[in-house]
Amino acid sequence: TQTQIDQLKEAAARQAVALAQDGMVLGLGTGSTAAFAVAALGERVQAGLKIVGVPTSERTAQQARSLGIPLATLEEQPRLDLTIDGADEVEVESLALVKGLGGALLREKIVAAASTRLVIVVDAGKLVDRLGSRSPLPVEVVPFGWRTTQTRLQNMGLRPTLRLGTDGQAYLSDGGHYILDCATGPIADPAGLEIALATTIGVVESGLFIGMASQVIVARPEGIQTLQA
Ligand code: A5P
Repeated sequence: TQTQIDQLKEAAARQAVALAQDGMVLGLGTGSTAAFAVAALGERVQAGLKIVGVPTSERTAQQARSLGIPLATLEEQPRLDLTIDGADEVEVESLALVKGLGGALLREKIVAAASTRLVIVVDAGKLVDRLGSRSPLPVEVVPFGWRTTQTRLQNMGLRPTLRLGTDGQAYLSDGGHYILDCATGPIADPAGLEIALATTIGVVESGLFIGMASQVIVARPEGIQTLQA
């Protein structure tokens, strides 16, 4: 059930937060799993842990503030020790990720790239043999001319649809961009696709995170499993 999955995710998130130590600068991820981690971190801060957090979304910043977690920008703290985040898919063999169903992929990638370690927390349902098997690939694009960008992605063999918000209008990321959720099917060459997307005009960033995760903490009904890069 959802309650059981949430309890497992919370336990795995606590394990990730146990890696935090006094003096660290921590990247704070986005999504329901990352929210458990931020909550657990808040408890540790209230108990005296001295850290500074760099949030990956306005949503996470709000939650962290409400818990009294001190925050900084990347300009103030350009080097992070550890980022704790969720993911939408984890390729077991390589620990390559798809992220961005929560809409925060751009800031998540910038924060992850500034971190010495990226620890990902997921439930076992997110593990895949090949990325693209269960989740669409979110691609963040500039609103200007977005249909021409969509056509470029279609010509690459992707099937992109514009993400809509709850109001039925185009979803806007924290950076003010649109997101095209791309059905891909299993992605044979994630690294090649990431480069192809990065060089596509109008694309800001893709949800492919390759070679970034140092560790994945997996919540399973049988217990918590750690995958190491
Ligand atoms: C946010 O943009 C995403 O990258 C999240 O990390 C992802 O959607 C995971 O969210 P859940 O933990 O809610 O599944």
